[in-house]
Amino acid sequence: MSETDALTWARANTPVLQSLATEHATDTPFAGLTVAVATHLEAKSGVLIETLAAAGAAVAFTPSEPQSTHGDVVDTLDAQDAITAYAWEGMTDEEFADAQHTLLETAEPDIILDDGCELIAKVHAAHPEVAETVLGGGEQTTAGITRLEAMDAEGVLAFPCFTVNDTPMKHYFDNVHGTGESALANIAISTNTVLSGTRVVIAGYGYCGRGVARKARGVGAQTIVTEVDPRKALQAHMDGHRVLSMAQAAPIGELFITTTGTREVLRAEHIEQMQDGAQLANAGHFDVEIDLAGIEAMATETSEPTPGVRSYHLSDGRRIHLLAEGRLVNLTGPYSSGHPAEVIDTTHAMMFAAGREVATRHAELSPGVYAIPDRVDRQIAERKLRTLGVEIDEPTAAQDAYRDDWQHAESSF
Ligand code: NAI
Repeated sequence: MSETDALTWARANTPVLQSLATEHATDTPFAGLTVAVATHLEAKSGVLIETLAAAGAAVAFTPSEPQSTHGDVVDTLDAQDAITAYAWEGMTDEEFADAQHTLLETAEPDIILDDGCELIAKVHAAHPEVAETVLGGGEQTTAGITRLEAMDAEGVLAFPCFTVNDTPMKHYFDNVHGTGESALANIAISTNTVLSGTRVVIAGYGYCGRGVARKARGVGAQTIVTEVDPRKALQAHMDGHRVLSMAQAAPIGELFITTTGTREVLRAEHIEQMQDGAQLANAGHFDVEIDLAGIEAMATETSEPTPGVRSYHLSDGRRIHLLAEGRLVNLTGPYSSGHPAEVIDTTHAMMFAAGREVATRHAELSPGVYAIPDRVDRQIAERKLRTLGVEIDEPTAAQDAYRDDWQHAESSF
């Protein structure tokens, strides 16, 4: 393989995955198993796919979002033994759905590693005979876990699924730092406008929103947060952000970023109040957070002043700019390449570990939603620290005894 293929840089910046590939090239925990991976198909997820193959898996992959696919990555992967692509760059929404169905019909996966629960939902809805043979799965993102929990609550989930997003090693780093940095970087590159001094409205103060808000303030933006959860709103207030309802924020904001995981957070009634030149971007998983039909209906015409930005011309002369078609701004814009490699390295290591748990423990798991065991989360953290050359302390024997002794026998009472 060429030393300059699309994955070379990503491999060099994903030391945790590289260490897993080296370690599991000998014990091959996935030997004899087909792993289906639905993910954003850019170079870093390519490294996850290669790591699974190095650990013995046959890997079949599709996008988790049709617009985030990098064709050169798909070609590099597809050319490798044991890896099959059900993907190409520039897929329509229909082709994306068809490719996922084709994968499920032809590859017949033993394990599904998903991002947004599209593949897992489809195997249950349209291919129940395949779902019956799946040993288990893993889900990477908040939005996908919400769907998995709904499936579990309805009693339709046919196999065990690990909730990778809910681990500290995922959401403290990927959602906070990965989304925070990559969303802002891609907005800045797409618009070539300044963040410093700009009034940035962040909808949602969960892990992603917190990261976006903290980093936006770090470069000098005036941050405003909207929320529906009073505790999150209070957290944002105590973290020093201005908290407003969206109705209050709409006429003030200059850049709006949604990170809620729900639909129509920015609606026509808000757009009606916005300033000329307001920019709208979504960093939540699906393209439903901004009411696209609503803004479309308000516009007299649209234009594309620069790649990745669609301007809606309103009848009173205002222009509202939508980035990346309202899809994930850090992954689907013309310049977007997703999270920083070192951040997604640990997320993908957790996805690998979820698959490995299924491969090695499926016999003891019944259908349902499972947390990744804490020992696995710790192991990935330890592995990451080793790659950084960072050492930490061990609790002393006295500290262990103190933790376990509820009477605190040596204290004075
Ligand atoms: P989270 O559950 O921690 O945070 C979501 C927050 O949005 C919550 O605090 C909730 O109260 C708030 N919220 C819900 N409805 C709202 C509304 N109408 N107005 C204002 N706030 C509202 O979830 P997390 O981890 O922050 O993820 C958020 C979304 O981002 C999900 O869709 C997730 O899948 C996606 N995601 C995107 C990534 C990316 O690369 N862009 C990476 C990781 C997650």
